[in-house]
Amino acid sequence: MGFFGKSSSSSNATADDLRASLRDSAAATTVAALRPTPAPEMDSFSPAYLQLKQKMHRTLLERVDLERLQKLNAEQFRRELSTLVERIVEEQRLAVNQAERRQLVQDMQNEMLGLGPIEPLLEDPTISDILVNTCSQVYVERRGKLELTPITFDDNEHLLKVIEKIVSRVGRRVDESSPMVDARLPDGSRVNAIIPPLAIDGPILSIRRFSAKPLSINDLVSKKSVPPPVAQLLESLAKAKVNIIISGGTGSGKTTLLNVISGFIPANERIVTIEDAAELQLQQPHVVRLETRPPNIEGKGEVSQRALVKNALRMRPDRIILGEVRGAEALDMLQAMNTGHDGSLATIHANTARDALSRLENMVGMATANLGIRATRQQIASAITVVIQIARMTDGTRKLISLHELTGMEGEIITMQEIFAFRRTGVAPDGKVLGHFAATGLHPQFDQRLKEFGVGLPDEIYDPTRIFDI
Ligand SMILES: Nc1ncnc2c1ncn2[C@@H]1O[C@H](COP(=O)(O)OP(=O)(O)OP(=O)(O)O)[C@@H](O)[C@H]1O
Ligand SMILES: [Mg+2]
Repeated sequence: MGFFGKSSSSSNATADDLRASLRDSAAATTVAALRPTPAPEMDSFSPAYLQLKQKMHRTLLERVDLERLQKLNAEQFRRELSTLVERIVEEQRLAVNQAERRQLVQDMQNEMLGLGPIEPLLEDPTISDILVNTCSQVYVERRGKLELTPITFDDNEHLLKVIEKIVSRVGRRVDESSPMVDARLPDGSRVNAIIPPLAIDGPILSIRRFSAKPLSINDLVSKKSVPPPVAQLLESLAKAKVNIIISGGTGSGKTTLLNVISGFIPANERIVTIEDAAELQLQQPHVVRLETRPPNIEGKGEVSQRALVKNALRMRPDRIILGEVRGAEALDMLQAMNTGHDGSLATIHANTARDALSRLENMVGMATANLGIRATRQQIASAITVVIQIARMTDGTRKLISLHELTGMEGEIITMQEIFAFRRTGVAPDGKVLGHFAATGLHPQFDQRLKEFGVGLPDEIYDPTRIFDI
């Protein structure tokens, strides 16, 4: 007996349903064929096909011996599955054409081995985000733009099963008592799920795809996200161990830029990275990666970023890279930067460089109420040298829109000067953002440090008359 050897006469109702749905499916195919535009071979999103798929899935689950299933490798599983789908189609004399048959096998594989209806999206390298807004709506982001897809889940329970599959693989769980969860896919993609009662209309799943090959500095220059002189400057800043904060909104490219700048750190330095869900892909040989842990089912065992920063300091780091500073760890990070861990890097969620500083100030306030405003600002001003602001433009492109240098304090105020800026000049008829990058003409104080480290740059870098169009 084959692997799917459970009794096949499990349910006549199911077989009848399958046949009934296939009549619908045949009708839908005919309608599709009557469309004026060249019809696709088959409409795999037609209600009839979706119903067929759902029923095939149920029939399979009834007939599959799940315990034995676990023991097969992926290849064997695929073969067995394909045989079984074919057999059900034959046995029940389902009127499916060749294309539908292939699609059914594929969809059943996706259901049982992968993440169901969104599996094809995960295989598409042009997609950067997958956003599932309850079972009935799936958006993707391609080249910075959101697109609605025709993909749906059977129902919210189906979606919840897929979410459970993702989070259980990384030893986490999601249920009413813990309705928000962060996880990672095997390929490193970052996942967030939030379910009712917090998500009012049903489970929401957000996936940030992890590209196998992260963007390089050359990619950022050729995409006109960063002008050539700033690319040179970023390399020198990283080599001269200047402390840098990357500031930007959601999805503006903070982690990507952090990865690129970290790439300039010399190979002989010991790097410790701290993230909520490990996303950085550093190529250096000497990298130690730490990841926070949420509390367990009894609400215990949480390990915060702050605890990891403190621990990292006892690991003889040359550089500490904090994926995103967002709480009390800001204080420990600033102290580390002020006590010999030069060249540390972090990102922060903020819309301007000034905003980034006041957010940091608030975060320090979360860690201690004893440090006055002035002392807090002093910590910030002496720890951080450069704040890079990036943004996602209305046309979906990402740009470095300013590079500020912190120069000290005047009274209670941290002083900053802008060294590079992107000036937006308009919008083309096709929606493309127009503008240019240029230096502001201010000569940065960090230039001296770059020279001391042997990575000084020619003065023309800071020449404001050199304009870089996008
Ligand atoms: N300069 C760029 N040009 C084009 N695409 C980019 C650029 N930088 C980043 N991206 C893409 O934009 C998406 C978001 O990037 P990234 O994860 O770095 O942003 P983020 O600001 O860290 O997001 P979050 O706020 O969610 O942490 C990714 O798909 C990434 O590949
Ligand atoms: Mg990020």
